[in-house]
Amino acid sequence: MRTYCGTLRIDDAGKEVTLSGWVHRRRDHGGLIFIDLRDVSGLVQIAFDPERSGEAHETGHTLRPEDVVEVQGVVAARPEETVNSDLGTGEVEVNVTGVEVLNRAETPPFSVEERAAVDENLRLRYRYIDLRREDMLANLKLRHTVTRELRSYLDANRFIEVETPVLTKSTPEGARDFLVPSRLQPRKFYALPQSPQLFKQLLMVGGIDRYYQFAHAFRDEDLRADRQPEHTQVDLEMSFMDAAGIMALLEDLVERLYEAVLGVTIDRPFPRLTHDEAILRYASDKPDLRFDLEVVDLSGVFRGTGFAVFSRVLDDGGVIRAMRAPGAASMSRREIDELTDFAVSHGAKGLAYLVIREGMQITSPIAKFFAPDETAAVLERTGAQEGDIVFFVADLEGTAVDVLGALRNRLARDLDLVRDGWSFLWVTDFPLFKLDDETGRIIAEHHPFTLPTSETVDLIESDPLAVRGSLYDLVLNGVEIASGGLRIHKPELQRRILSALGHADHKMESDFGFLLEALKYGAPPHGGLAFGLDRLVMLMAGLDTIRDVIAFPKTQSGGCPLTGAPADVEPAQLKELKLRQQP
Ligand code: AMO
Ligand code: AMP
Repeated sequence: MRTYCGTLRIDDAGKEVTLSGWVHRRRDHGGLIFIDLRDVSGLVQIAFDPERSGEAHETGHTLRPEDVVEVQGVVAARPEETVNSDLGTGEVEVNVTGVEVLNRAETPPFSVEERAAVDENLRLRYRYIDLRREDMLANLKLRHTVTRELRSYLDANRFIEVETPVLTKSTPEGARDFLVPSRLQPRKFYALPQSPQLFKQLLMVGGIDRYYQFAHAFRDEDLRADRQPEHTQVDLEMSFMDAAGIMALLEDLVERLYEAVLGVTIDRPFPRLTHDEAILRYASDKPDLRFDLEVVDLSGVFRGTGFAVFSRVLDDGGVIRAMRAPGAASMSRREIDELTDFAVSHGAKGLAYLVIREGMQITSPIAKFFAPDETAAVLERTGAQEGDIVFFVADLEGTAVDVLGALRNRLARDLDLVRDGWSFLWVTDFPLFKLDDETGRIIAEHHPFTLPTSETVDLIESDPLAVRGSLYDLVLNGVEIASGGLRIHKPELQRRILSALGHADHKMESDFGFLLEALKYGAPPHGGLAFGLDRLVMLMAGLDTIRDVIAFPKTQSGGCPLTGAPADVEPAQLKELKLRQQP
């Protein structure tokens, strides 16, 4: 019977044990050899004494980091002065009586033992070695615990786990599809699912009532720290529930999850903001509320101003928005210039500001252009105090929001305003439609199956951009960790939405005919949501990239340094698929 290294304690002293694992660290004192032996459970020190077993000691002498061994030995209390209180097993060591080398390791490309930063590409190229590092193992264990707790909660709440196909038809979630050519039906393609959205709705039509799945979702988009070409969703759908009921269930789920996994009590109910409020007050649809910085619209204050920069923007239909940065007056001129460059890199044309000095004295290159009542209104509306800076962005609303949203996060970091903790927030009532930046056409903000709110449903044809969806995003510390909404369950309304999105009737039939048909056969009202599991676990682990919670992630350019994917294929394979390579 094998014993796990990390489990040994002082009570085990005197026991004979067999351990299997990797040589972590070796200290050869000429006579005695000490090795830290590592397995999935942790480390324990093992000692090779030539007096106890000459043969084992001989072998111990040859061991190098990452060799794989099995040892027999006797657990002993360490002499008092050698107790290592940093280690769970630090009060004991195992005196080796026999050792077998199960496999030798070449010198690894980076050390498992050292905490030094290793180039990420190298880590991904040798991910199996990287995974031996304590923090990576901890990340995977945390992920396992999260999925186990979620499963158990969902099971207790009557959710049924159902798998949906990976070879399927395109679902419009707003990204590019990954396509898979069909051999049996030449020149036709499967799409990998951007999410199981339509299948989960069909499951509701199928009477499943409550569905969940840990689903892989595939999206061909530009990658970032929190975006991978394939990510895992905890995908949920429920019938006969309204938005309030679904959100309450999800809050309960999150509360239990945090309690079970981190032993942390989460405040409930989660605060809520409508999308429009979030954009206006925090310049983001996923604001981080661990800090209080707020945006104030001052367009009204500056209507008719003598400051040409502002009056020009207002004449062009733009807005003047400001943010008070508490305590920022201590920033140097250079720091303010850097902030201006930062704003410009996010699309701003400049960054005007007022510095509020002692006695509410104002120093600013632009203060002279403001009328006294304008300055007074700025101070009053922003609540600016001695020692603050008020920053202004004048631009078209979209740009102003982009700039202020970025500035808000940057200022919070620079001024050290971010409180510790878990700041959950619901953002609701997103617009149903938005304009596509590239084509200028109307596209779905979330996906085309979202139920419009009853207050705005009549505007679909007359004023589509004013229509709001029954949508809710769950935001944690400024990261969108989940997104969902109520769905359309009547075919006529679904047709109206698809028409508004510019789908001609024949295209509607060929793309979504199966859905429109299913909605005719008794579809229940339903809704749901999907968590981005990678993002949730990343935040729970206190990390800032989802790559660290994914066993085998892709690089920024979508490659896998370990396997070499994506890779060339044989001409014969293409021929079989009736595909020709572009020159
Ligand atoms: P959505 O597209 O918002 O919704 O995705 C749900 C959640 O998945 C996470 N996420 C990602 N994580 C890592 N890499 C990505 N590329 C990536 N894209 C999304 C986010 C997001 O909140 N079918 C709908 C859900 C629904 O309506 O029920 C959907 O897929 O955390
Ligand atoms: P200028 O007259 O262009 O030198 O600008 C005067 C001040 O206003 C500078 O501090 C600029 O950074 C700032 N500024 C210029 N354009 C804008 C704008 N669109 N929004 C906010 N501040 C601006």
